[in-house]
Amino acid sequence: MSTTSWFSRALLPWYREHARALPWRATKDPYLVWLSEVILQQTRVDQGTAYWLRFADRFPTVQALAKASEDEVLKLWQGLGYYSRARNLLTAAGQVVADHDGRFPTDLAELKGLKGVGDYTAAAVASICSERPVAVVDGNVYRVLARVFGIDMPIDTSAGSAHFKELAGALLDPKHPGDHNQAVMELGALVCKPRDPACSACPLAARCIARRTDRIADLPVKAGRTKVRTRHFNYLDIRTGSGGIWFQQRSGRDIWRGLYELPLLESEGPLTERRVVARLSEQMGPGWVVEGVHGPVKHLLSHQRILARFWKLTPPRDLGTPEHWTLVSRTGIDALAVPRLIERYLTEHPGPIGA
Ligand code: ADE
Repeated sequence: MSTTSWFSRALLPWYREHARALPWRATKDPYLVWLSEVILQQTRVDQGTAYWLRFADRFPTVQALAKASEDEVLKLWQGLGYYSRARNLLTAAGQVVADHDGRFPTDLAELKGLKGVGDYTAAAVASICSERPVAVVDGNVYRVLARVFGIDMPIDTSAGSAHFKELAGALLDPKHPGDHNQAVMELGALVCKPRDPACSACPLAARCIARRTDRIADLPVKAGRTKVRTRHFNYLDIRTGSGGIWFQQRSGRDIWRGLYELPLLESEGPLTERRVVARLSEQMGPGWVVEGVHGPVKHLLSHQRILARFWKLTPPRDLGTPEHWTLVSRTGIDALAVPRLIERYLTEHPGPIGA
């Protein structure tokens, strides 16, 4: 018996008693488990469950997902953020159909060959679906291990992450890697929470070094916050008398690729009304009138802080159809994948200009 098997011996019975009955835990289908893990990298279980149920209902098999349009996958993903994950889902499904005969792999190396599948996802699917002895390391695992073993190495350095990975591997119960991995994550989610952990309910409390040395609030340690860039977005709210509103689809290597938003002027700093009119006149001819402005609305992403202003505009009479713009009806909007920022604005400002 290894010196660290106390860890799994305490944890597994706790997990078997307290594990949440989550819908993807009722299956070992690697496709459905992979879906759950990709979603859970973006959000917590309470919100993620509804997304998983919608995906699993609409695309019950990897073949069904592989046939989907990117627009539909983005729409189902709407609100989770980090939309490249949604595009990667579609690409990976295509790879499984093309390269694996439609059988979703559970081998670690094959999993890592799929678009968007990194160490974490590969280890989760391989251990949960076919009991491969590989440890997962996610935010929950860092927190549990840093506290139980009193480790103050920063988790966001390569030396730190290597150390935690090695420890997680040494602790893994080789007979039950799937449950073991899920148990550590479950403990992190339900008991060893970032704030106000429920130590009295913890099966590892008696061995927990952070608890004994009063360092729970200090662990895990992070070396540095990632830099956050500020961007200024000026959205053009241009509506037609018949209830249409102009949209644009985002493209290029940037946030929200493939999603729809109002036509956008990005600027180095906040724009005045005169600058908005001047830029529009330069690009599309004169005759623009600003009817009002809303914002700035602050929208936070992991590495970007967006300050959005929404300009209500009456366009020139001879606007025509500007390049890359699409006129969308009120009901048509519901079918488009839009960033949360835009969804909120449109919900708060449903009517035509001046209404
Ligand atoms: N978080 C992400 N995946 C999880 C899983 N399989 N079990 C518990 N928490 C998780």
